[in-house]
Amino acid sequence: MGDTPYADVDDYLEGLFGAPDRVLTAALERSDEAGLPPISVSPALGRYLHVLALAHGARSILEIGTLGGYSTIWLARALPEGGRLLSLEYEPRHAEVARRNVADAGLTDRVEIRVGRATDSLDELTRAGAGPFDMVFIDADKPPYTEYFEFAVRLGRPGTLIVADNVIRDGKVARGPSDDAAVTGVQRFNAALARDPRVAAAFVQQVGAKGHDGMALAVIVDPRR
Ligand code: SAH
Ligand code: DHB
Ligand code: MG
Repeated sequence: MGDTPYADVDDYLEGLFGAPDRVLTAALERSDEAGLPPISVSPALGRYLHVLALAHGARSILEIGTLGGYSTIWLARALPEGGRLLSLEYEPRHAEVARRNVADAGLTDRVEIRVGRATDSLDELTRAGAGPFDMVFIDADKPPYTEYFEFAVRLGRPGTLIVADNVIRDGKVARGPSDDAAVTGVQRFNAALARDPRVAAAFVQQVGAKGHDGMALAVIVDPRR
């Protein structure tokens, strides 16, 4: 049993899928043993990302914020033969754990993990003319979410699906000014996203094993508007 009714329901829902996935369980265990913070997406939301990537037919995915590669594995497993995922991570230690987890998942051939500040890596990718990515998952530090989104649009194309994690923050985003830079960063991102004519966007509140949070979903409709 979990700590909240939402956690119990997540347990129930995950139970419906049968025995826990050994690779994903091992990835979380390895991350835990290495001292990484327990802030991966929940199993239910990893599954959700996987289904989104499949529904979208994503062949190239950009992830911003790798941690131990848990969401990376869920997303990369949705790629077709020849598909690619690039994940950006600042902490070499996190990237190292993620690389082991990705290797354990048999996904090394389709996943690249690039170490560095995400803004630096995104700048390099933009200059190099990388992309267009079919899907972008934003899940790194929260203050620059708006800047990450700008890069996502630049590295995308009409139809690219942009998903941003942690845009509800236990409802703190709805409570006005905050002295938490993560909250204000997300508030700034949410407000910009809602009024951005280049995308069609929606916010989805989510509850589950990790409490109350949510994701923003956006599709690029016209990158030049
Ligand atoms: N997507 C992961 C969780 C990511 S947690 C999952 O769901 O499994 C956020 C990650 O972003 C952490 O590993 C953190 O080190 C990384 N991060 C924080 N600031 C960053 C930055 N400026 N550039 C790149 N990565 C950053
Ligand atoms: C937290 C959760 C996240 O999913 C994340 O990407 C960053 C931080 C948190 O709970 O603090
Ligand atoms: Mg997150």
